[in-house]
Formats: sequence, C-alpha cells, structure tokens
Amino acid sequence: MEVTRALFDEVMVPNYAPPAVIPVRGEGSRVWDQEGREYIDFAGGIAVNCLGHCHPALVKAVQEQSQKVWHLANVMTNEPALRLARKLTDATFAERVYFANSGTEANEAALKLARRWAFNEYGEQKNEIISFERSFHGRTLFAVTVGGQKAYSDGFGPKPGAIHHAIYNDLASVEALISENTCAVIMEPLQGEGGIIDADPAFIKGVRDLCNKHNALLIFDEVQTGVGRTGHLYAYMDSGVTPDILTSAKALGGGFPIGAMLTTTEIAKHFTPGTHGSTYGGNPMACAVGEAAFDTVNDDELLAGVRQRHQHFAEGLNAINARYGIFKDIRGKGLLVGAELKDEHAGRAKEILQAATRQGLLCLVAGPNVVRFTPSLIIPNDDIDEGLTRFEKAIAELFGTQD
Ligand SMILES: Cc1ncc(COP(=O)(O)O)c(C=O)c1O
Repeated sequence: MEVTRALFDEVMVPNYAPPAVIPVRGEGSRVWDQEGREYIDFAGGIAVNCLGHCHPALVKAVQEQSQKVWHLANVMTNEPALRLARKLTDATFAERVYFANSGTEANEAALKLARRWAFNEYGEQKNEIISFERSFHGRTLFAVTVGGQKAYSDGFGPKPGAIHHAIYNDLASVEALISENTCAVIMEPLQGEGGIIDADPAFIKGVRDLCNKHNALLIFDEVQTGVGRTGHLYAYMDSGVTPDILTSAKALGGGFPIGAMLTTTEIAKHFTPGTHGSTYGGNPMACAVGEAAFDTVNDDELLAGVRQRHQHFAEGLNAINARYGIFKDIRGKGLLVGAELKDEHAGRAKEILQAATRQGLLCLVAGPNVVRFTPSLIIPNDDIDEGLTRFEKAIAELFGTQD
C-alpha cells in the first residue's frame, strides 16, 4: 500500500492538520521522513520523548517485556506496574499510585478522587473545583471543562458543573473563589500549552495555604512538567510546595502511552474497589518501558544536564533574537522553553513552526504567539546548535536575513 500524506485526508478524522512530511525513523534527537530527509527534533513528541528516539534502555525494556506478558488488565496485578509504583512512591511525596493511559485520564482520576474524597469526608456540597484560565488538562469533557480555554469545551453539550477559573499568578482571584465548598484546586506548576508561564513561588505557596485553610486538595498537573522536564524530577520539588495529588504522563513512558496519578494513602483510600478503573491502566508493557525511562531520568547528573542545556538553549535563542529582535521574551525551565513573539508579530508562531519544518527542524507552538521547544532531556549540545542554526534559517526566511 502506498502511504502518503494524502491518505490522511481520506481516512483520518480531520481533527489534526499534520504537515506534508511523514517521519518513518528516529534516533536520538534526529528523525528521518519517507524521503530520507533529516530533522532535528526539538518537539520530542510534545514533551514525551524524554530520552529521544529509540533509546537503548527503552528498546531493551520493550523487547524483554514483549517476550514475557503483554496484558492482563486490572483483574490481575503485574510486576512492572508494582515496581514502577514503588519507584514513584520512593522518589516523591506519594504513597499510592493509580495507572492510566494518558495525561487526560490521570487528571480524570485525580478530579474524580478529589470529589469522592470530599463527598465521603465532608458531604455532597463540597464539590467545587478551581482551575486557571489558560490551563490545559486534556481532552475528555471533564478535562476540557476544567481547562482554561472555553474554545475547547464549547459546543459539546452540557458541561460538568461546579468548575471555576481563577487567574494564574493572581492569588486574590483564587481567594475570591475558594470556600468550604471547594474540594480541589488544580494547577500546572508551569503552564505549558497556555504559553510557558511559570508560577510565582509566592503564588504557589499562597494557593497551598488557601487549600489548607479551606480543606481543599491541591492537585498538581505535572503531565508536561514531570519526569525531568524542568530539570527536577517533578517541578513541585523545586517549588517548596507539596501537592496532595500529582498527575504524570507524557515523559513517564518515554514514548509508550502511560499516565499515573500519585497521592497519599489517606486520600487514595476513597477509591475503593469498583469506584474507578481502566482496562489498559498499569499495562505491563507500558510500565516496563516506564520503569526504564524513570530509572534513567531519576538521576542527579541527568537532571543537572537538563538545567545546563536550558542555559545553552536560552543563550542560543537570545543570540538569534539579538540579530532579529522578533521575540519579547525567552523563558521556561529546563527543556520546556518558550519564545514569545513581540506584539507586532502576534499570531505568527505557527508560521515559524512551518518554516522550521522546511528547514529541517521540528518544534512546537504554545498558543498563537509562543514557539515552544521540548526536546529530549539528553539532546547532545551539537544537536542543539544545529537545531538553532536551522531555527535561525527559518526566522531569516520569514523576517529577512540580517548582516
Ligand atoms: C499539563 C497537561 N495536562 C494534561 C495533558 C493531556 O495529556 P494527554 O494528551 O496525554 O491526554 C497535557 C497535554 O498536553 C498537558 O500538557
């Protein structure tokens, strides 16, 4: 069968608009398309491929587990799931883990658990959830309604209720909404899809204090920030604040679908048998790969390398910006980096992404005005340099060559 981009338009539901190229092979931070053209990968499968493509430890985990047992479902437990759960609880505040298949599902579990906890502990009236404008928590109807972009939840019929949106980094806006009826506040410690916006340390601390005051749970959505992305195993570890529930996905599987919800024994106990579940959650293949990814990333040297690469990246981007002056801010943490366009170039982030692809570089956007980079956490400095050279060519293509 001939597989071309045209086939996408014939057989796929048109909810995505991929470019013309179809990648067929990847190695480290490089990818090749059907024509053999090479790309530097600064997108990392949207912050998923924490160890790049086809990392030997992950390939080995897939190969070994694929000859043991693929799937049992939740009627049985399995060794890779228990090992990964032990490692997650050893490395974090959490004592209990629930496995899902995606970030959205991990959030669904977190939000349902918060509601069930409040229902059991305080009664039916304590069901309100506070989230933030511009936040992103996934695409189920609950997750898009909790998320801070109405465009994603409008037009799908009645929405789940008792969900309020405060303004990120504005503690007074949380204070105005929170009450004894709040069961949870959910936030990204650094907003990813919303534009790479870091939380103020005082804001995070203030939200924690408000949750304590009103007996509400604090849920950190670390689907994008987790597993080394910010240069810390989880971003909360650098914030001085500990959440009650944390969700993880994306990099947790290094490219194999997995999600996890982490919490304490006291909160977890409200998910009794029958309250929640998933056929694939805790799948041995996913957990075996997850374990290999986690073992590799949970390493001080690797995490220090992520922070060092941030410097390298930011310096390169700032140097490009010194020549072209199109960005008003270059920001982010670790290898979650955003470059925000100046107002006169507003709305052109997608065009830059498309030009980058033409120049042999894969990158992302975070909204209309921010170009986003989420490469492998172990991307070699040479690949960063080559990718930035190609990025500059893309900028030159759109904004004119500088002398
Ligand atoms: C912070 C955050 N939460 C949740 C999600 C949804 O994850 P998934 O696409 O795996 O369902 C994303 C995806 O971009 C995310 O960035």
